[in-house]
Amino acid sequence: MRIEPTGAILGATVQGLDLRQPLSDADFAAMLKALGTHGVLRIPGQSIDAAQLRAFSRRFGSIQGSVTGKFHHKEVPEVGILSNVVENGEPIGIADAGQDWHTDMSYTQTKGFVNVLYAVKVPMRDGKPLGDTLFANTVAAYRDLPEEVKQRLAGMTARHDFNKFWEKMRIRPVSARAPLSPEQRAKRPPAFHPVFMPHPISGETVLYCNPGYAERIMELPEEESDRMLSYLFAHQLQEKYLWAHQWTVGDVLIWDHIGTLHNAIPDYGPNEERLMLRCQVMAETIFDEGFQRQWLKAA
Ligand code: SIN
Repeated sequence: MRIEPTGAILGATVQGLDLRQPLSDADFAAMLKALGTHGVLRIPGQSIDAAQLRAFSRRFGSIQGSVTGKFHHKEVPEVGILSNVVENGEPIGIADAGQDWHTDMSYTQTKGFVNVLYAVKVPMRDGKPLGDTLFANTVAAYRDLPEEVKQRLAGMTARHDFNKFWEKMRIRPVSARAPLSPEQRAKRPPAFHPVFMPHPISGETVLYCNPGYAERIMELPEEESDRMLSYLFAHQLQEKYLWAHQWTVGDVLIWDHIGTLHNAIPDYGPNEERLMLRCQVMAETIFDEGFQRQWLKAA
């Protein structure tokens, strides 16, 4: 296995892996370390099924299921389907997943660690791929914050709510989403996380406060919280922190949710088919000291 950094603010390509085979311990340890350094890893040229995607993803932690119970692989329910493809008049996947800036699972008390996406269909126009996924680097964003902002927010927590992003998607004219039912909302109560925290792999401080889900800094009066959140959202999305992944069929992309946030760009039409299989992996193991001793020291 070889890891080739893009040389940009994020991203590396992992060569020499066949994910139909189990990942060796040495390769797993090296990938963990690379996630902490590069944030997003592309493993090109894969030809895997849903069970193999799940097996690879499970190396990184447990997989979160869907809140609506819809649009997952029939035999492998941990694998979600993101797609605008319609078969027999029925959508086969979530058509508008992640189409604005956010961090998956910041809305749960156990944060998200990684997403793993496998590109089955990539829309093309005039020979160029569409439907890029954009990423922003939250380590660099924290590093560049003014000292007075770092001091003001040190030790503070933000409230993150699943419904904030759901509503942002739902009110768009193209959306087929229904409002979350009280039962669905009860399954995803708001979660509270430090605004700044050390990255579990690199130890570097990250800004963990994404526009998709963060809605209130708890220790500030409401007005100051609103002003500060607007500032933090704009700060971390400056061009200098961004990197775009352009998809090729057969890519497996794995990204770290703590060191990045992301946005799926819907620049393709309903007849330009996009189909991704996705596993969303939780962060309980990556924060576990025993796990860190075993795997991060080994890399
Ligand atoms: C996501 O937010 O997980 C979706 C990303 C994508 O479809 O590019």
